Amino acid sequence: MSKYTTEVFDSAIDGSKFVANKIKALIEKNNAEGKKTVLGLATGSTPVKMYKELIRMHNEEGLSFANVVTFNLDEYYPMEKNSEHSYWYFMHENLFNHIDVKPENINIPLGNLPQEEVDQHCLDYEAKIDAEGGLDIQILGIGRTGHIGFNEPGSELDSVTRQVTLAQITIDDAAPGFGGVENVPAKAITMGVASVLKARCIYLMAYGENKAQIVSDTLTNDITDQVPATYLQKHSNTVFVLDTEASSLLPA
Ligand code: F6R
Repeated sequence: MSKYTTEVFDSAIDGSKFVANKIKALIEKNNAEGKKTVLGLATGSTPVKMYKELIRMHNEEGLSFANVVTFNLDEYYPMEKNSEHSYWYFMHENLFNHIDVKPENINIPLGNLPQEEVDQHCLDYEAKIDAEGGLDIQILGIGRTGHIGFNEPGSELDSVTRQVTLAQITIDDAAPGFGGVENVPAKAITMGVASVLKARCIYLMAYGENKAQIVSDTLTNDITDQVPATYLQKHSNTVFVLDTEASSLLPA
């Protein structure tokens, strides 16, 4: 039986503020109790407004990230940290450079390791999430393939952090930002489906009409590895945060 809930908002801004408020409430509760907060974060266009709201909360409402540990879902491979295409760069531009998170508490898979070191890095990444006590909140977007992180169709329920090959649709979607498909890395390192499902709470945001079909496929299909986001139906505390357009193909 599915236990997820859906929250539909008039706009992506309202959905983003809803999620930012949830994050803020948890950080403030944990800060008051002297506890760390462990956040799983996503890149892409979807979470940008939510990150802007967190930055505003930091600047105007004193929200402190000094006790926050972050783990990003994924990184392209190969990819240098300081490339403008890296998720490392994206996260610093869109969030980390504007808040008081400690650099040593930021975790993003490394896209610049030699191939022979990648498997060990993935094992270490997974172990580090566990060593921090697991993810309190995981933020997700969704790709047109139904990927979460870079868990493309065919990804298994028990998959953990690993190197993957990107689906052609994902490469096509990334191409404009890279100046052509030929410049998009063919591979990535991603947290697995099992890594994501271990989070105590998950918010998947999807905004705009180009997400309507995959949102409908995710929420109305049985669980299938062909739409990895359907695995979220197994999770006990997932909220799908949508705007009206992204929810437009869901049954009334
Ligand atoms: C990003 C990630 C991806 C994106 C998805 C949607 O870290 O893991 O799964 O969330 O590709 O991307 P946007 O938000 O650009 O539509």
